[in-house]
Amino acid sequence: IFESLAATPPMGWNSWNKFGCDVNENLLKQMADAIANSGMKDAGYQYIVIDDCWQVGRDKDGNIIADPKAFPNGIKALADYIHSKGLKLGIYSCAGSLTCQGRPGSRGYQFQDARQYAKWGVDYLKYDWCSNEGQNAEAAYRTMSDALKACGRPIVFSICEWGESQPWKWAKGVGHLWRTTADIRDCYQCKFDWGGVGVLDIIDTLAELYLYAGPGHWNDAEMLEIGNGGMTKDEYITHFSMWAMLAAPLMAGNDLRSMDKDTKEILTNKEVIAVDQDSLGQQARRFMDMGDHEIWAKPLAKGEVAVCFLNRTDHEWQLDYNWKKDVMYFATDVNIHKNEYTIRDLWKHKDIGTTAANTKYNIPAHGVLMVQLNLKK
Ligand code: DGJ
Repeated sequence: IFESLAATPPMGWNSWNKFGCDVNENLLKQMADAIANSGMKDAGYQYIVIDDCWQVGRDKDGNIIADPKAFPNGIKALADYIHSKGLKLGIYSCAGSLTCQGRPGSRGYQFQDARQYAKWGVDYLKYDWCSNEGQNAEAAYRTMSDALKACGRPIVFSICEWGESQPWKWAKGVGHLWRTTADIRDCYQCKFDWGGVGVLDIIDTLAELYLYAGPGHWNDAEMLEIGNGGMTKDEYITHFSMWAMLAAPLMAGNDLRSMDKDTKEILTNKEVIAVDQDSLGQQARRFMDMGDHEIWAKPLAKGEVAVCFLNRTDHEWQLDYNWKKDVMYFATDVNIHKNEYTIRDLWKHKDIGTTAANTKYNIPAHGVLMVQLNLKK
């Protein structure tokens, strides 16, 4: 029952990447309106998550208090508003005494906080790892997991421990998703002294973890940066395509009130989202690594396969591809080995041939060709 809360990777929006600590009731309501009206809700985005900085203290009984200036009507009223739009509310806390921004965390208050979230109508909790004071990570996250399971309301549990204690080895059944890296930065390939990571680093981290993902328990590849301006359109397409290949949660992190056409087109690409949300819940494997050219394959529920050609280089990849040679190895189900597939380009939204013939493709620098192989009728 617990795992069925996230049978497919959670989708939604989170305030952190774009707004940091600058969160308030109006912003969240406007974001809910934007999701409902922009086609995002229709494409599957559901959770609106307030990240750090909504909380200011505890009352004399230890109850957590939302910032009365930023949330003058309280969290319950906000939850009601978000629910009235057919959406769900997510909130944030931390396994330490303080959050990463120095707000009160949940250490010592896990059950009390979980009951409070349930009373407010919260549907999702992201639980951070700052000021953790040397706790054992598995124990700390299990405590909050137990609290959520006992609180009387179904709440999706997002473990934000940055991969330090290899949560993929213990977090199935504890949480529904777990971070695997430091915080994402709005860049394709970059490294920061203090640990921020770019898109390619995240892909490389998740590449090794495909066995740990499945319905109800996902490797969290981090929230999306699409629309925040740091990458080119091709790079953002790569970001979105690979997150879908990796069956990663899709949490938009941009300002949804002012999306340009490209951003909206990327975030609401239903064919790509369908790959992410496929019910089989398999994470793609790096099928072929040819240095900076890679082929990824993700088996889908109905014997179909998503295939993504990833060009990590700074120049176009001119590929002459012999499908026949590889196609039988893409899917893990031996029964479909003999099949020939039609090839659907998930960004052009059209069929582009079959796997019977060699085909030439030009894949842009830092870009992808993402296709779905469909069984021939
Ligand atoms: C660290 C997390 O990894 C981020 O996603 C964000 O939640 C910040 N903390 C908030 O302080």
